[in-house]
Amino acid sequence: KIVPVILCGGSGTRLWPRSRASKPKPFLPLVGDSTLFEAALARCPVGEGFDPPVVVTGHKHLDHVEEQLGSSDGGQIIVEPMARNTAAAIALAACRLPEDAVMLVCPSDHHIGNPKAFAQSAIAAAELAEDGWLVSFGIEATAPETGFGYLKRGEAIGAKGFRTAQFVEKPDLETAKRFLAEGIYAWNGGIFAFRVKDFLGELAAHRPQIAAVVADAVAKGREDGRRFHPDAETFAGVESDSVDYAVMENTQRAAMVPADMNWSDIGNWHALHEALERDADGNSVRGPGKAELVDCHNVLVDSDGPRVSVIGLEDVIVVVDGDDIMVTTVAGVQKVGKLDGAANQ
Ligand code: GDD
Ligand code: MG
Repeated sequence: KIVPVILCGGSGTRLWPRSRASKPKPFLPLVGDSTLFEAALARCPVGEGFDPPVVVTGHKHLDHVEEQLGSSDGGQIIVEPMARNTAAAIALAACRLPEDAVMLVCPSDHHIGNPKAFAQSAIAAAELAEDGWLVSFGIEATAPETGFGYLKRGEAIGAKGFRTAQFVEKPDLETAKRFLAEGIYAWNGGIFAFRVKDFLGELAAHRPQIAAVVADAVAKGREDGRRFHPDAETFAGVESDSVDYAVMENTQRAAMVPADMNWSDIGNWHALHEALERDADGNSVRGPGKAELVDCHNVLVDSDGPRVSVIGLEDVIVVVDGDDIMVTTVAGVQKVGKLDGAANQ
């Protein structure tokens, strides 16, 4: 059995004004009818190879998590007293699980267009994890993105996957371009499979402070129904680091499974537009608000009410949310998170 560990931490300010502090990215139906969090849960159906999930989240997301998790499938929610990044978040889940359990660590803010391919990769990854590998999902790299980790493909491990010869988190642009040209690097999809004891062992080897302090915070924690609260005072002292830097760049037991699953981290409005269905002109309209597009190409309109009319524009995104209207070119999408509106929502 595989235990899904769903990480719910980020805020998604680059999708402002749709994503807001009060309703952040994972809890919005950005692609299709389910929210990204609901879709992450649905990819790991309980009983069909998966145990009930462990959701790791902060206080501010707790209401959304409880509402969207529903009650039927059980599962537990670990409530972080404060955010200490993914190494500590995953360690919290590991300390709550049996040491032989295989965790499938999944972000809650990604879109996967082909869930069947995800399931196949998950099975291969879990089998490698059973053999002691720390497994990443490798996504075919198509651009020199600097916001991702890169996995250098090493020798094959049977038919299931490959050794990760090198794991490089967030390289600079020049390095990313070189990796892309070399053709043997995949993006790290941010989805991992580890056996609990292997993860905790590697964490203890490379970041002993995180391993020890998280274990202590869990030992001193308290249960409250299906919520678990690690001890806040203890957890406050844990080092903040991502699993990528803390463990994956350092372990000698890194492996990867190829995952051709139409993946997107929906990191900005352009990425969201690419994950949506578009008409013959490349336009998409999301709504309840109506839109009229005349002589437009690659325009995305997302309005929660007001009608939006656009003539003669190309590569433009228009988002209306309450009193906020945000208009950007595709080239500008990375700056959305830095707008005053996004910073002081
Ligand atoms: N519970 C919890 N607590 N979740 C967290 C925390 C935390 O403190 N910090 C981050 N998360 C969640 C985020 O919500 C997201 O779902 C996931 O963990 C990854 O964190 P990000 O902050 O989005 O990481 P990233 O996008 O910079 O990089 C990671 O993902 C890339 C793919 O999208 C890395 O794993 C990269 O190597 C990878 O390419
Ligand atoms: Mg991310």
